[in-house]
Amino acid sequence: MNQSKDPAVSVSDAEALASAERYLMNTYRRPPVVFDHGRGCKLYESHGRAYLDFLGGLAVNALGYSHPRIVKVIRREAGRAIHLSNLFHNQFQGPLARKLVEWSGMDRVFFTNSGTEAVEGAVKLARAFARNQTPGPVPKTRILALENSFHGRTLGALSLTYTEKYRTPFTPLMPGVEFVRFNDVADLESKFDESVCAFIAEPVQGEGGIHAVSDAFWMRARALATQHRAALIADEIQCGLGRTGRYFAYQKFGGPECFPDIVTIAKPLAAGIPLGAMLAREEVAFAFSPGIHGTTFGGGPLACATALEFLRVVEDEHLLENVRERGEEIRAGLQRLAARFDFIREVRGEGLILGLELSIDGRPLVDEALRQGLLINCTHERTLRFLPPFIIRPADVKAFLRKLKTVLASASQLDRAGAP
Ligand SMILES: Cc1ncc(COP(=O)(O)O)c(C=O)c1O
Repeated sequence: MNQSKDPAVSVSDAEALASAERYLMNTYRRPPVVFDHGRGCKLYESHGRAYLDFLGGLAVNALGYSHPRIVKVIRREAGRAIHLSNLFHNQFQGPLARKLVEWSGMDRVFFTNSGTEAVEGAVKLARAFARNQTPGPVPKTRILALENSFHGRTLGALSLTYTEKYRTPFTPLMPGVEFVRFNDVADLESKFDESVCAFIAEPVQGEGGIHAVSDAFWMRARALATQHRAALIADEIQCGLGRTGRYFAYQKFGGPECFPDIVTIAKPLAAGIPLGAMLAREEVAFAFSPGIHGTTFGGGPLACATALEFLRVVEDEHLLENVRERGEEIRAGLQRLAARFDFIREVRGEGLILGLELSIDGRPLVDEALRQGLLINCTHERTLRFLPPFIIRPADVKAFLRKLKTVLASASQLDRAGAP
């Protein structure tokens, strides 16, 4: 029985699953669970079973579910104007841009609908910026990205995404992209020259399995980008907006002299309403002029009002502090589990972007976690990934570690049972 009394949402789980199976394109392998609603950091099935959500809608639901201030703003703006088009001003785009500028140290903002579109915009801005410069002997169009990167699924962003299985069916992709070995300064130096218009990196790789760019690598990338007048792009779509316990992950490298030239964000920005953005330093942003780039939906009043409220909630509820403290508790708990289970290879990440690399396939563990009422996922077959909401409390951390221990114990039993 569904919880909602509204006939518009009283579809039975069986009907929802059957129609999904029959009519949706075959792009996701999903478990046969239909979620009905969420509260805080828990999701519920219609018959009431609760799941502790340590995946947070893939890093989107930083405030969990049904945060009262978010619900209030969405209700209010739905009754005013959901959308206007970018041919007119709305009340929220400017103030939201101002707040993002204050958080990031950038100067200008362009709003998009998704992460991948923010990356597309960043590539176009970098190309336009390069074109504006005094022409050199070679065209300045090459883009460097990192091995193991993930930047999105549209063709431009996909060209910067390393994983072969995402790329191969869609070739030829955008030419002029080269991948640099992760944290390998010598490889970066050998590929960076005057023909490069941009170097893009996630300061903490998310899909790639929670790997942090080293200080030395980032600082060399910053210096090379400055030397060759290329744009340094930080893709903070997964690791930004508070997830590492800082506003932006690149802020760990130091002050403004270490900052990138362009930053992409999305995921938690509007608390679940689709919204992304590309932020840039003034001299780079200057390469755009009216008509050169645009979007129908990006930056609508409902999305921007909600995003402004998200940023204010993060400040008012001191959530960066909570991210750091709960992150430390989880890390310490994961280290204890690593000492107990010999198939755990490494604990990685900081704040609330954490990974557990295993020497065994992690996918059956994700299924077992679901059976235990815990939502997590697995990247690259062997890394369990945790992206819980920023609002988790110490009791949620304890519940998570308890459930995860049960899940890991089931794997070691499987291992032993399977051993010759
Ligand atoms: C680092 C990074 N960049 C880009 C994207 C693409 O964002 P979206 O799925 O909103 O297009 C993602 C999505 O996971 C991401 O993690």
